[in-house]
This record gives sequence, structure tokens and C-alpha cells, in this order.
Amino acid sequence: MIFLGPPGAGKGTQAVKLASKYGIAHISTGDMLRYHVKNGTDLGEKAKAYMDSGRLVPDDLIIEMVKERLEEEDAKRGFILDGFPRTVNQAEALEVLLKSKDITLDAVVLFDVDEETLVRRLSGRRICPNCNAIYNVHNSDYPEDGRCKRCGNGLIQRDDDRPEVVRRRLKVYEEETAPLLDYYRNKGSLISVDASSESDAVLYAIVSLYGGKDDSN
Ligand code: AP5
Repeated sequence: MIFLGPPGAGKGTQAVKLASKYGIAHISTGDMLRYHVKNGTDLGEKAKAYMDSGRLVPDDLIIEMVKERLEEEDAKRGFILDGFPRTVNQAEALEVLLKSKDITLDAVVLFDVDEETLVRRLSGRRICPNCNAIYNVHNSDYPEDGRCKRCGNGLIQRDDDRPEVVRRRLKVYEEETAPLLDYYRNKGSLISVDASSESDAVLYAIVSLYGGKDDSN
């Protein structure tokens, strides 16, 4: 599956739940890039300036990174691509790659959320820099001590969640990623979910549309 949608729409939040429910890989290009930046790899050094300013990292770097990731063992049972593809060029490269592996996409899920909700979610987001868990200060399950419930690490705000960078990311989404909606609509694989409701309702909507039954409780 591919999760498509603007920054803050909840793609990462739902990808974690769905990947665990179905025992498949969660492949987040944003998480992978943050890992490279944190560890000072060549790729991280090349990507950092783009990410800090809210621009997209060049297609060739991203495509190579995803190509390698899809070779890993855990991707063999299936995967959710979260934040990739993000340009028509990336989508075309993915199509070639999947074809060469004889893999068919089950669904491209569009997370539909109004801009006011996106800005509120992004301003309140905190992440665990150790295990990538996602939280929000506006949600009732936010840990009072500001520490990750999974691993105990202190939570931080992402550098690119500053208001001026958020504005840029939303603009980049409209200009470079929104054209993918027509790309996948024309292929008949796009399904849209109302992602502005609370998290469990969004999960239920995805599972229902995807054709399964949410028996994860
Ligand atoms: P990336 O990390 O992919 O960022 P993004 O796509 O902008 O998406 P976000 O992570 O901001 O949002 P999300 O939809 O996952 O929302 P989340 O679940 O966290 O990319 C970062 C950067 O890396 C890019 O700007 C670019 O530079 C680069 N990059 C990455 N991929 C690339 C690519 N393919 N090509 C080129 N460059 C690339 O939720 C947001 C908040 O809302 C959280 O606090 C969460 O707790 C809360 N929340 C979620 N759902 C709900 C709900 N239903 N109700 C209430 N709160 C909710």
C-alpha cells in the first residue's frame, strides 16, 4: 500500500498500526532520512538542507534509498510506503521497480484533512528520536512526563515542524505531490479516507475500504 497525503495528515500514525496489524513493513522515507541525518551519513548530509527548509530531497537519492529498502527481508511479506512516492517521477520509478519484482499495489490511500487541522497537528507533534513513536500534546494520551511510553526517551519537536517550514512543506505538497492524486486516480487505485476524525476511526475507515475487517482489538 501507499499512504499519500499532506504533512501532518496522520500517515505515520496509521502506518505503524496497520503494519503491526498485518505483520508487514512500514517504510517511511521521512524516518529513514532522519536516521541518516542523525548518523551523519553521506546521504544524511546531502538531505539535511532540503529537509530543514521543507523542500523535497532529490528524486535520485530517494529512489535509490527505497530500492535498497525493498530488498530487505521484512518487506517480502508486504509493505506500507509512507511518504513515498512524492513526485510523479518517483511514482514512475516505483512502478518500474514493482513490475520488475512482480509486485502489485493493493491500494493507494489518500489521507484527506483540512489545512487548519494539519497546522494544529504539526504544531503539537512530538516524536521519540530513539524509536520514532509519534505523539501530540493536544491528544489525551500525551505522556505527562514528556517521555516516550515505549522506550522512555525524551520526546522532541521535529526541526521541520516550525511554522515557517510547515508553510513551505504544505506549499511543496500542493505543487509537487498533489499531482499524484490524478496519477493514481487514473489508474483506479486511489481510495480516499476522511483523516480528520479521531485516530481509531481513521484506522477503521482504512481497514474497511481496504476490504478487511478490523479485528485487531
Ligand atoms: P516526512 O517525515 O515524510 O513528513 P510528511 O510527509 O511531511 O509527513 P509528516 O510526518 O509530517 O506527517 P504524517 O502524515 O506522517 O502525520 P503523523 O502521523 O506524524 O518527510 C519529512 C521530509 O523528508 C520532507 O519534507 C522531505 O524533505 C523529506 N522527504 C521524505 N520523503 C521524501 C520523498 N519521498 N521525496 C523527497 N523528499 C522526501 O501525525 C501528525 C500529528 O498528528 C502527530 O502528532 C499525531 O500524533 C497527530 N495525529 C495523527 N492522526 C491523528 C488523529 N486522527 N487525530 C488527532 N491527532 C492525530
